[in-house]
Amino acid sequence: MKEPSTGLARLTGRRVVVTGAGSGIGKATAMLFAREGASVAILDLNYESAQATAKETGGYAVQVDVSNEDSNAAAIEKAAQAMGGIDGVVNAAGIMIVGPLGEVPVSSWRRTLDVNLTGTYLTVRNCLPWLNQAPDGATIVNIASAAGLLPNAPGLTAYAASKGAVVNLGRALAAELAPLIRVNTVCPGMVNTPMADGFRANVGNYALKRLAEPEEIADVILFLSSLQSSYVTGATLAADGGRSFH
Ligand SMILES: NC(=O)c1ccc[n+]([C@@H]2O[C@H](COP(=O)([O-])OP(=O)(O)OC[C@H]3O[C@@H](n4cnc5c(N)ncnc54)[C@H](O)[C@@H]3O)[C@@H](O)[C@H]2O)c1
Repeated sequence: MKEPSTGLARLTGRRVVVTGAGSGIGKATAMLFAREGASVAILDLNYESAQATAKETGGYAVQVDVSNEDSNAAAIEKAAQAMGGIDGVVNAAGIMIVGPLGEVPVSSWRRTLDVNLTGTYLTVRNCLPWLNQAPDGATIVNIASAAGLLPNAPGLTAYAASKGAVVNLGRALAAELAPLIRVNTVCPGMVNTPMADGFRANVGNYALKRLAEPEEIADVILFLSSLQSSYVTGATLAADGGRSFH
């Protein structure tokens, strides 16, 4: 068994797919992973932003709608061919549609579940043949949300339901894919990304009284994607400034 590394370059030789890497948490993760020695495939619905992240990381930009079976399968195949395999996945693509239960159309409920839950499921499923061949074991990190643990704000029924399901999906995957593949879930509180626009004031019930920078969430994702967490699987880690215990 390998000794956990302690210095920089904690992902040397690792080939990692990051979805939603055109923006926010996914982008910060791709940038950090590249600095830590990983090859990164930058998957996003928005191809222009994926290309911008790829330019900054030296990674491979791939356009994808994670919720679409054909698009997802084609994108994972492209990513695997570009990197010569896949050792890790970070599922950061996500959407949040906000509004009162009776006013948000059912189509928005379905789209939220499609992208956040089914998109995560499809990406893992399509990466599986590659992850099974990862020479030093593989990692999956899914980004859920503090709203998936404690949905205490109005207008977020679809989002909270999708993220609660992502939490439990992670546990089920961890049970099924062990011991070759470790699967963990990160539940951020509010993070300073485009998704948090309009919510930035709502941090009064956070113990730390501030939102997170995307780089602070990327650090948690790095821990769960590196050998420093070699004995951690099936875990749900709240990185939420104390929102869920407070
Ligand atoms: N920002 C927050 O406060 C916060 C809090 C908790 C959890 N999260 C979760 O973290 C993850 C990243 O969010 P973020 O804050 O970086 O948001 P963001 O909007 O900055 O980035 C999300 C990215 O996902 C991409 N995307 C959306 N739908 C897609 C699809 N169908 N296929 C492929 N890519 C798609 C977008 O183009 C965008 O680049 C999401 O799952 C989100 O739910 C965010």
